[in-house]
Amino acid sequence: MSAFIEQLPKVELHLHIEGTLEPEMVFALARRNGITLDYADESALRAAYDFRDLQSFLDLYYLGMQVLRTEQDYFDMTWAYLERVHRERVRHTEIFFDPQAHTDRGIPLAVVVGGIHRALEQAQRQWGLSSRLIMSFLRHLSEEAAFDTLRQAEPFRHLLAGIGLDSSERGNPPAKFSRVYALAREQGYRLVAHAGEEGPASYISDALDLLRVERIDHGVAATQDPALMRRLARERIPLTVCPLSNLRLRVVQDMADHPMLTLLAEGLCVTVNSDDPAYFGGYMNANYQALQDGLGASDGELLQMALNSVEACWLSPEEKAALV
Ligand code: HPA
Ligand code: ZN
Repeated sequence: MSAFIEQLPKVELHLHIEGTLEPEMVFALARRNGITLDYADESALRAAYDFRDLQSFLDLYYLGMQVLRTEQDYFDMTWAYLERVHRERVRHTEIFFDPQAHTDRGIPLAVVVGGIHRALEQAQRQWGLSSRLIMSFLRHLSEEAAFDTLRQAEPFRHLLAGIGLDSSERGNPPAKFSRVYALAREQGYRLVAHAGEEGPASYISDALDLLRVERIDHGVAATQDPALMRRLARERIPLTVCPLSNLRLRVVQDMADHPMLTLLAEGLCVTVNSDDPAYFGGYMNANYQALQDGLGASDGELLQMALNSVEACWLSPEEKAALV
């Protein structure tokens, strides 16, 4: 691991907390909750992390998180992630969770948000590691289900900084959620959405124009549309790019083909993130390292990406200044 990457103060902006469940924790929580898994052991589960595409990953991701039942489970998952990235010099993190993947199994939103938030507070107190929480709608579910989730979140409004959109992208365009995003906007939520991961470049412009998001999660499909790339650069719309995720979900066939340096050279505000590190083989430092080893990114280019993350995060100007 490069000493430059290790010592770089980092900000993470695209992290699904349920995607941090390592096989060891999946089995530990299953034992604690009396759940029998379809995999013999941790290594059998890890061996199944061989994905063809986004959907083949999502199937295992929704399966793995079924071991989460109690407030303590949500705390332990979140705390394990925070301990890990604290050691990697992450100074601020903006975390997604998928409420519907829990409430649809009968887990109250209070349990989910309570456990995650308790860990986030402890990391702030103990290490000064700051955070924001982003509630994501599952785009394969209906607009009505998203409205219902937004309503259920009302008691926790003060703990939620923003709204996101994730899960199966193709066939679930941004337009499906324009009305619920409009309501979230009225309620003061900040808005982001996954777009242009497996889906077309038009989903990126639709997320900007129909959902009125301020950041795009992934967005690598922008390279298919030069006019869109110019717009993203001109408007300084941040892209939360996840290099190892793109490789493991076969969005790119080889790290040498990754568009990160093209996007940076075109003047876009690209940032480096881990997405679902337990499933994609690496946390923040590993994602920076993959860009250096696989794509030939220089220390200067990695530094620019890290500064972009500070620019793109939701801290105040004073808090941002204190990060670097
Ligand atoms: N894409 C879409 N949905 C997701 C992802 C992702 O990378 N990770 C968790 N949910
Ligand atoms: Zn994601």
